[in-house]
Formats: sequence, C-alpha cells, structure tokens
Amino acid sequence: MLAGKTRVLLTREEIREKVKYLAEVVSRDYKDKKPLLVCVLKGAVVFLSDFMRFLSIPVEIDFMAVSSYGNSTATLGVVRILKDLEVSIENKDIIILEDIIDSGLTLSYLRENLLSRNPGSLKIVTLLDKPERRVADIEPDYCGFCIPDEFVVGYGLDYNEKYRNLPDLCVLLEFVK
Ligand code: IMP
Ligand code: MG
Repeated sequence: MLAGKTRVLLTREEIREKVKYLAEVVSRDYKDKKPLLVCVLKGAVVFLSDFMRFLSIPVEIDFMAVSSYGNSTATLGVVRILKDLEVSIENKDIIILEDIIDSGLTLSYLRENLLSRNPGSLKIVTLLDKPERRVADIEPDYCGFCIPDEFVVGYGLDYNEKYRNLPDLCVLLEFVK
C-alpha cells in the first residue's frame, strides 16, 4: 500500500460536484466561443479530464509542463518550460487549468509568458487555492475550493510523484520518501 498516512480533505463526490459546477459556469461565460484549455502538467490532468467532459461548449486542449525549482513541497518561483504548447494562441481565448495555486509564482510566470503571445483573452481556472501562502500578485478567475495551508495529494496532485492516483483529495500527514 501507500507509504505515509493521509486524511481525506475532499471526497471524490464533493470534487465531482464542484468540477461540474465550474464547468457549467465556464460554459455559460464562454457561450458561442471555442476556448483553448491549457492544462498545466502533470497535476491538472485529472481535473482537465473531468472538467472538459462537463463542458457544453466546444473546446480544444493543449498541455504545458513547467518545473519550478525548490524542494518537493515548496517552490522558489524560478520556472523552466519543459514542454511548450503545440499551437499558436494568438487571438484565441485561453483558459489555463491548474490543480492548485500556492505561492502563485508558477502561475504568475506562466500568465506573463502566455500574455506575451497575444491571446485574445486569458483566464485562470484552478481547482484548489491556498490563499494564505500567496506571494505573487495573482488570483484565479474561477476557483473550486479554498483550502487551508496543508500539503495535499491525490486527484492528480503528488508528493515526489506519488499519490496522484488517489481518487479523493487527501492531506499528507507523514512525509515518507
Ligand atoms: P506555486 O508556484 O507555489 O503556486 O506552486 C504551484 C505548484 O506547486 C502547483 O501547481 C503544484 O504542482 C505544487 N503544489 C503546491 N501546493 C501543493 C500541495 O499541497 N500538494 C501538491 N502539490 C502542490
Ligand atoms: Mg501543478
């Protein structure tokens, strides 16, 4: 089984309801548009796959992978692009999909980077937000849950690449490598 003790913070049912709600709001706000969903790998992949299936508007998807330097539970805000988008985003309506905003440094870098490519519009959807830890000046346009300052795993989120496959969102109580 998995090393390290976990405690469920959000059940799969609670997450499902919220993701459905977010998708309904976005579908309404982007009526008659065809946005490009930019999924930030790897953490947002589970969120993307659920979110896009609840949308009632046509969308395209693409992926970006960034690495933020730091240790496994905190970022330093220095970001490197490991995988870039395959398509041009010029004049397109872009929606960045994130798993979690913590210090906000990663997303802040990503937003500036994408804005420099002249999209038609750019908004941010995040499933989770830890506002207490914010360093960068950035707020999501759509947010699923504000959570306390605890390290969470599951539903795509990892600790040292583990626990991404847990269906519920859990607080990691013990950090075992
Ligand atoms: P930020 O630059 O500090 O906002 O960090 C954002 C990234 O750090 C997220 O996209 C996650 O990959 C990771 N991260 C931040 N908090 C957590 C957490 O509680 N669990 C797992 N990953 C996290
Ligand atoms: Mg992430």
